Amino acid sequence: MVYQIYVRSFADSGSDGIGDLPGITGRIAYLADLGVDAVWLTPFYPSPQRDHGYDVADYLGVEPTYGDLADIDALIEQCHAHGLHVLADIVPNHCSSDHRWFRDALAAPPGSPARDRFYFRDGIGPDGAQPPNNWSAVFGGSAWTRVADGQWYLATFTPWQPDLDWENPAVVASFDEILRFWYARGIDGFRVDAVTHLGKAPGLPDAPPPPVGARETDVAAHNPYATYWPSAHEVWRHWRDVTDDFEREHPGRQLVTVAEAYTARRPDLLVDYVRPDEFHQAFSFDLMLAPWHPAAIRRAIDDTVQELSAVGAAMTWTLNNHDTQRSVTRYGRADAADPASWSGNNLVASHAPVDLAVGTRRARAAVVLLAGLPGSMYLYAGEELGLPEVLDMPDAARADPVFLRTCGRERGRDGCRVPLPWTTDVSTAFGFSRGSSTPWLPQPDTWRSFAVAVEERDPTSMLQLYREVLAARRTHVLDDETLAWLDVHANLVGFRRAGIIVVLNPTAVPVAVGDELARAELVLSSSAQGATWSGIVAPDTAVWLRA
Ligand code: GLC
Repeated sequence: MVYQIYVRSFADSGSDGIGDLPGITGRIAYLADLGVDAVWLTPFYPSPQRDHGYDVADYLGVEPTYGDLADIDALIEQCHAHGLHVLADIVPNHCSSDHRWFRDALAAPPGSPARDRFYFRDGIGPDGAQPPNNWSAVFGGSAWTRVADGQWYLATFTPWQPDLDWENPAVVASFDEILRFWYARGIDGFRVDAVTHLGKAPGLPDAPPPPVGARETDVAAHNPYATYWPSAHEVWRHWRDVTDDFEREHPGRQLVTVAEAYTARRPDLLVDYVRPDEFHQAFSFDLMLAPWHPAAIRRAIDDTVQELSAVGAAMTWTLNNHDTQRSVTRYGRADAADPASWSGNNLVASHAPVDLAVGTRRARAAVVLLAGLPGSMYLYAGEELGLPEVLDMPDAARADPVFLRTCGRERGRDGCRVPLPWTTDVSTAFGFSRGSSTPWLPQPDTWRSFAVAVEERDPTSMLQLYREVLAARRTHVLDDETLAWLDVHANLVGFRRAGIIVVLNPTAVPVAVGDELARAELVLSSSAQGATWSGIVAPDTAVWLRA
């Protein structure tokens, strides 16, 4: 099980209100206790932080606010000492506009090799005043930005994140060096950012119009010339070679790469990324974004399992990350159970009212289900505390470029990135900082009741459930990768893995499972009411049984 740490928001070893590497090192015992096998650190490289590290200004260093190379070395060493692997996050589609490569490109004339690392083009129309094509950026607006000498450059996300041209061998060579640099420092693998955007159609043709009514932040995903472009797979195959070579040269090292590929209910597209000579893993986001409805949940799992097992690839499940609304809020939306509420976009569109009690019950059930699935599982820091999305953050405090680039039409992702509460001490931002601090995103007063120190003492807390779930997963199911569906009842999602039967009731009505399962032994329950088993699965509840 891999635990995602949003570095800015996990733990601040000082008092600047920003999480850092020594802060994480100081909390490794907590992660080991939770039952984590590996951590994934969001980008910790020097960055102007306009997309909070996903705008990298130097791939071979450490952001000074987070520490230095000695701090990352210490973190890796301590993780390894506790039996945890460390995955870094690498961003190949674009770098920061502050990166030396881009500064050199701006300083060089049109047509120069420095510009060839990027997509610089002349504009069209009189004086080239129109962008070279009609492509939109993922976070809103045009994907093109004009520079002082009149040329334009392509930036799929924001103007501060210019796209790299992977047809250029210099780009390929630079990243070979970067991968090897971090592997040599002890990093055990990479989560690879935004892989579906890398590679563009030759000639950068105009995109066909998006579907009528597409959201501003959906338009780019409909551009067939800039999404899932097949040339990217040559890059991934090459990365796999670099990774495999490093492993061969360093016996005993085992490396993992995991692709961030949003494929919007097209697991047939996802499969390409986990071909045997590409990534080891690729997140399946369909379950995360599925409605809380039995048929939809089963379909999200089954489609992924069918596609991926047909090619022998491992499944990679998750319920949360730093780009989507936290699950207790998402599942608590009044329309969450509507089978039509499928979302292909991680920026959840629903504004339906939220019932956190319902959402929390469902999020508990969801993790009990997820932990039973074959493959690997990722969780996002704070999920184990049941933190809700912070929906009422003042606009002035928001820092996400999604909010800024859409002029507030999209609220963005700040609400899932609020610094974690460790204690009830308000003066230290609930123990997030060591000294008194103002955290970089404001914490609501309710954070107090979600603090680790509080949940550790409460047997019904989300934290205790996660500990129990992760322990049960290790004990009962990890050595069997097969899933067999059980048709128990139309309102239930049920399957068998290893000797365990997992049953979820994602409806508001209690469901009886029948005599045979009623006689089974209860291994785990998502219910906070104490674990008894009488053959009835309560609403929004999941159980593990052993027959
Ligand atoms: C990925 C990251 C997201 C970032 C974007 C651009 O989707 O997860 O946080 O904003 O890529 O790098």
